Amino acid sequence: MSIEETETEVILTHKNGSVVKILKYGATVTSWTTSDGKEQLWLSSAAKLDGSKPVRGGIPLVFPIFGKCQDETHPTFKLPQHGFARNSVWEFLGQTAANPLTVEFALSPEQVSNDLTNLWGDGQNDFTLIYTIQLNESSLKTQIEVENAGKREFEFKWLFHTYFAVPDITDVLVTNFTDAKCYDQLLAEEYSEKAPMISFHEEFDRIYKGVDQDKVAQIVELGKVLHNVKRTNLPDCVVWNPWIKKSAGMGDFEPKDGYKNMLCIEPGHVDSFVKLGGGEKWTAAQELSIGGDIKVQTNIY
Ligand code: BG6
Repeated sequence: MSIEETETEVILTHKNGSVVKILKYGATVTSWTTSDGKEQLWLSSAAKLDGSKPVRGGIPLVFPIFGKCQDETHPTFKLPQHGFARNSVWEFLGQTAANPLTVEFALSPEQVSNDLTNLWGDGQNDFTLIYTIQLNESSLKTQIEVENAGKREFEFKWLFHTYFAVPDITDVLVTNFTDAKCYDQLLAEEYSEKAPMISFHEEFDRIYKGVDQDKVAQIVELGKVLHNVKRTNLPDCVVWNPWIKKSAGMGDFEPKDGYKNMLCIEPGHVDSFVKLGGGEKWTAAQELSIGGDIKVQTNIY
């Protein structure tokens, strides 16, 4: 077990050989290799890791807005797409436990450029984010605590924008969203998911809303479970694959056929805002684990 800190990143190594790398920029997890040496997350080969742009891949952190706010009267309206947490340099607080191996990062207004904090309301929102990353035998848990360090209430959205590595997107199915309410961002339509398992053959961008916490999303490849995604206090889950045209338009998305090898499953609180009064705290987490059996938790008739 070890923790290495460089100027730009923190690397955790478990005694079983699994490794997680976290860039201080965005506190972005850029890699998680399990004890068998397999990379579990997708990272674009053209991802900017120098702080010039949010990282294309790994686990970018989305706060205090998801996407672009459409309501011009809302205090998050002026913020750029997905907010400012993914493009600010977080403070590394150090190791907080040895078993399981745990580290923490923090972000407060001092670490964020004034140009960005000023776009959230009138720039007066005082917050402390504590991000905890826990590396277990065959799982990775990431947890966020948002504290309103000021006196006035504020509203925010949160999302873990997790990019999973998959061998071939056309062989992949995702379980346990059947009957969930979903907003299709491409059709701008809301409906209930009817597919017994989700499959991918074109651009895909859906927000599954208010999904029971006990429902674990699984990425299954040819009958074998690759990843399990567990959510705590995160009612929503975005599922995204940009496919051919959209990835062609993203300068930092490489290789261009990389969409075949990635799938974003993004646990979040994005359908509605979390309201946090002065002095209050809110905590949420995702837990990613590998393998196991297919768990049928929905009616797939
Ligand atoms: C997803 C959204 O969460 O993030 C997509 O649902 C969006 O609509 C994608 O295209 C990537 O966003 P960005 O800002 O990293 O290019």
